[in-house]
Amino acid sequence: MLLEVGALGSVVLAGAWGLARLRRARLYETQRNRIAVIRRTHAQDLGLNRHAIPDFSTHLVRVPNFLPAAVFARLRADILHLQPAERSFVPAHKKGGTVAYETLIGEAPSVVAYYQSPELMDFFSAAVGATVSPTPLDDQSSLSVLIYDRPADRIGWHYDHDFYRGRHFTALLPIVNEGSAEGGLSHAELVARLDGREVVVNTAPNTLVLFEGAVVRHKVTPIDAGERRIILSMTCCTDPRARAWQSVARRFKDTAYYGVRALWT
Ligand SMILES: [Fe+2]
Repeated sequence: MLLEVGALGSVVLAGAWGLARLRRARLYETQRNRIAVIRRTHAQDLGLNRHAIPDFSTHLVRVPNFLPAAVFARLRADILHLQPAERSFVPAHKKGGTVAYETLIGEAPSVVAYYQSPELMDFFSAAVGATVSPTPLDDQSSLSVLIYDRPADRIGWHYDHDFYRGRHFTALLPIVNEGSAEGGLSHAELVARLDGREVVVNTAPNTLVLFEGAVVRHKVTPIDAGERRIILSMTCCTDPRARAWQSVARRFKDTAYYGVRALWT
């Protein structure tokens, strides 16, 4: 009898798992089609040929006034329209809000178009000295909005571990950064260890920060009450294929941002 109950339980579990996988496959197919449409209908000139190719020798570059004012204003307006973010809290390490890739695909096509822009990826490729492309659809961190707007929102020292076969890069574009620190910015400062020194990287709005997070250890200091810092975070890599253990490890890492649903999304 016990044996039969066990066998029945296994069949039910296997069926549920198979159904969940099928649903995800269908969802990704729909999202892939949606991104193809977005790429066709939202193409725009980002004006990036205004910039010289930055020097990536420290594995981190900063480009102020990254987008032309009008392009940045549109992107900012589309991001500020989004619904409230998912909140995450990892004791003593991380606190803040995040809007995931999946939500952006559904609600912010212009933001997805910006990330998927060949002009943007060409700029990143030239900067890092290797051809990069967006990271995959099932990676919720590929494109996300990070929100620091409650007292002590922060993230402690960490690396952005590389869960792909190729090299992996993070690009941050601050959308809002306002508070009572110097220059009217918030106290949430990006600090990176570069050449053995801790360096505060200015993240004023419309300043691109592109870095290789697997090499550059970094943190964001706590924000003060009444301050706000909203960052568009994008990742790209030289080879988006991943080994099975890398995919599993990435999903566990993503639970810190998106909760346990990251294990099956
Ligand atoms: Fe990071």
